[in-house]
Formats: sequence, structure tokens, C-alpha cells
Amino acid sequence: MTGSDFLHLDPGDAPPRGRTAWLVQELREAIAGGALAPGTRLPASRVLAGDLSVARGTVVEAYRRLAEEGLLITNRGGGTEVARFASAPAAREALEAEPPPRALLNISAGVPDLSAFPRAAWLRAERRVLSTATSHDLGYTDPQGVPQLRAALARWLARSRGVTAAPERIIVTAGVTGALSLLAQVLRDRGVAECATEDPGAEGNRRILGYWLDALHPIPVGQDGMDVAALARTGARAVLVTPAHQFPTGVVLSPARRRELIAWAERRNGIVIEDDYDSEYRYDRAPVRALHAAAPERIVHVSSLSKVLAPGLRAGWMIAPACLHEELVRKRWATDQGSPALPQLALAELIDTGVLERHLRGLRLRHRERRDAAVAAIRHHLPGCRVEGIAAGLHLLVWLPGHVDDTAVAARAEEAGIAVQPLSAHRHAPGPPGLIIGYGPHPAARLDAAIQTIGSRSGLSSA
Ligand SMILES: Cc1ncc(COP(=O)(O)O)c(C=O)c1O
Repeated sequence: MTGSDFLHLDPGDAPPRGRTAWLVQELREAIAGGALAPGTRLPASRVLAGDLSVARGTVVEAYRRLAEEGLLITNRGGGTEVARFASAPAAREALEAEPPPRALLNISAGVPDLSAFPRAAWLRAERRVLSTATSHDLGYTDPQGVPQLRAALARWLARSRGVTAAPERIIVTAGVTGALSLLAQVLRDRGVAECATEDPGAEGNRRILGYWLDALHPIPVGQDGMDVAALARTGARAVLVTPAHQFPTGVVLSPARRRELIAWAERRNGIVIEDDYDSEYRYDRAPVRALHAAAPERIVHVSSLSKVLAPGLRAGWMIAPACLHEELVRKRWATDQGSPALPQLALAELIDTGVLERHLRGLRLRHRERRDAAVAAIRHHLPGCRVEGIAAGLHLLVWLPGHVDDTAVAARAEEAGIAVQPLSAHRHAPGPPGLIIGYGPHPAARLDAAIQTIGSRSGLSSA
């Protein structure tokens, strides 16, 4: 019989195909029952896997799932320990939660590796903020954001994106979503009730703009980015673009198109909304500068920390031309008086102490490895399918053979427990089929398994 002295674990108790779930459950119970106290160091995955005679991947995956639940943390040296702030009630809650009817492995676009969230650093930042915040900091704050965060963002954006804006010109928002929503309302009040969007383009952003505005004009995207001549043929005076890394194709807006776009805005007295959502991730090329610096009085720059830290923070910002700024701040005041102060102060601390940049450097390496693994898995399991948009971001695009229905491929993948987005979900006009694969949260083995399933379920693995 195999087993480990550690918690007297005996894999003989586990169903043969469910060893990861078994180990997760055992560890959760040990945390809930207090057998594993906060701060306890766990055996290295290699050691525990050897003791239990299970694959090392089983232990790695179990540790990862518990890290995602916040019960374990991986420290910088690579060791794993019970989170110091993991509470027995939290583990008990996770233990008692109804298991999902089917565990969907979600390889949809848009999320970084959230198990790497710098929890310990965030906790330190919050502690420091709580011990230094003044009564003034805890009162009604400026609707455009606390000054400390706006100052930190101004320095960071200048360094990382070449965006120069005084802190007084930065408006802290609830992510890109919050920025688009405010902006659409202000534009509509000004009589700009139509906006052009990229096609294909982020469906979520289209829905938000469509909620507030009268009409959206889909503009085709090619290898050089949005077709500006097609934009000029519409009556729109506002346009939303993702110039550094087009969502979802991954193309970069070419220098010529950038110039055309700015010339269009000047001619039309228009506004370009630059969504810089995942521009911090560039792997094989020099970073693409933000568009904003080229025409700050024509461009609204919006971005967020959803791809760098976590979407759950709902932390983003907007830098708008002077003619819109005051109205945007007024709208934010009238909506909710601004974002909560304490998380803003903690974020300022993370930026000013360099934690955010260190975190980003680590994530870039990790995401790059995962991107390489996804590309290798696609070559292997979806032979003949072209991959694009791999130089940056957290997702890539796989072009499927022309006769294939990408929605049907995604539906078949879902039946097999894999959630993946078809390109057509982000299209307005019909076009060639594809799949958008988000690799950020997944280690290589999981990406390979998911892509293998897609290949076999769709019949594309033997194409
Ligand atoms: C292109 C693009 N822009 C913006 C967002 C939304 O970001 P946020 O979480 O900042 O609202 C997303 C989300 O995935 C996205 O794909």
C-alpha cells in the first residue's frame, strides 16, 4: 500500500480517475478542521507525489485549485503553504459548497493567471493603508479617484505606455466597462449617439455602448487593423478601437492607419476611444505605444488592471480630452461618487512600491510559456489550423477551415466540459470561422488536454 505520513493520506481511498479531486478534498478538510494551520508549509509536489505514488501533476493541480480558492499560497521560493489568512470557516464553506454539475474547463479569453494574484503583498498594502489613512482619506473622496492613486497611475502610465497625463486628468473608473459606460452617456448628452466599433470586436464592449447609444457601426478589421476608409463612410463621430492588440484578432493598428484614424477624428470633429486593455503583455516584439500621445485632445484612453491583477478589483481609468473631462467627472459623481477609497489607496501602494511591475514581469514569463504550450497543442491536435495574434495579450485566435461552423465546435466542446469562445460570437457581419483561446490561467498540461478534446470532438484532429 502506498501512502504518506503527511496527514496519513492514502490514495487507496481515491477513485482511480479522481485523485486530484480526492486530494483537494482531503487538504480542504485538513484546513477546515485545523489539522493544517495557517502558515503550515506543505510538502513539495514532487515529494508528496512520490509518497502517494501519484503523478506529480495531480499534486500540482490540487495545490493550484486550493490556491485559486485562497486556501494555499505559493511563495516566491516556490514552496506552498496554507494561506496565513485562510480561515477554517472559508475552508468549511468551500467544503460544503455544492459541487458544480460538471466542471467546465474555461479557456475563453480575457483572464490572467489569478492564482498568482499577489495576495500577501496586497495584504501588506492594506495593512499599511489602514495604519496610515487619515480621517480625510475615509471621508467622501474625489469622484475622479483618490489623489494618491491618480499620481501613481500617472507615473506608471508614462513609464509603461508613453501616456503622459497630469494626475488631475485621470479619472479612476470601474474597469474599462465603467469608463465606456460613463463616456457613452456623456457623448449621448452631447448629441453623439452613434459609435463605430471593430468587426470582429469585443462583444461585451459593443453591448455596453449599445445599451447607452442609438446605433453602432461595425467596421471591418484587416491585417492593418480597422479599415478607416470604411469608418469615414459612416455618420459616426466616435469610434472604439483596440490599437495595440486588436480584440480578438491580435493585429496591431499599422502606423499608416493610426495616422488616418487621427486625421479622420480631426476632420470629423470626432472622438477615438482607445481601449488599451491588455497592452502590458508583449512577448516577441517591442511594445506598441499607446495612441493617446499622438492626439490627446481627440483620444480617450481607457484601460484597467483586469488583465494585470484581477477583473474582480474593478479598477480602471480614463484620460479624456479637456472638453469632456468635467462632464465625465460630474457624471461619475452623480452615479456613485466614485470608487471605494481603501482599495484605491492599496493599489497606489502596490504601484509605488514596485510590486505591480514585479508581478507583471513574473506574469509575462508565465503567460508566455502558456502561450507556447497552447500553440504547440494546436499544431498537434488541430493540424492545418492557422494561429494568429500570439505576439501579445492573454489569448490567441485559431482559424478553422472555412466550411466549419465555429459555434457548433464550441457547443461540442462544451458538451465535453470545455468552454471556448467561437469567433462568430464577436462578429457582426458573417466571416471566416475561428476559436479564441485564453491561455492565461492554465498550465501546459491542461491546455493540451482542452485542445485535444476540441480536436477530437470537432473531428479536426485528423484534418
Ligand atoms: C477588449 C476588451 N476591452 C475591455 C475589457 C473589459 O475590461 P474591464 O474588466 O476593465 O471592464 C475586456 C474584457 O475582457 C476586453 O476583452
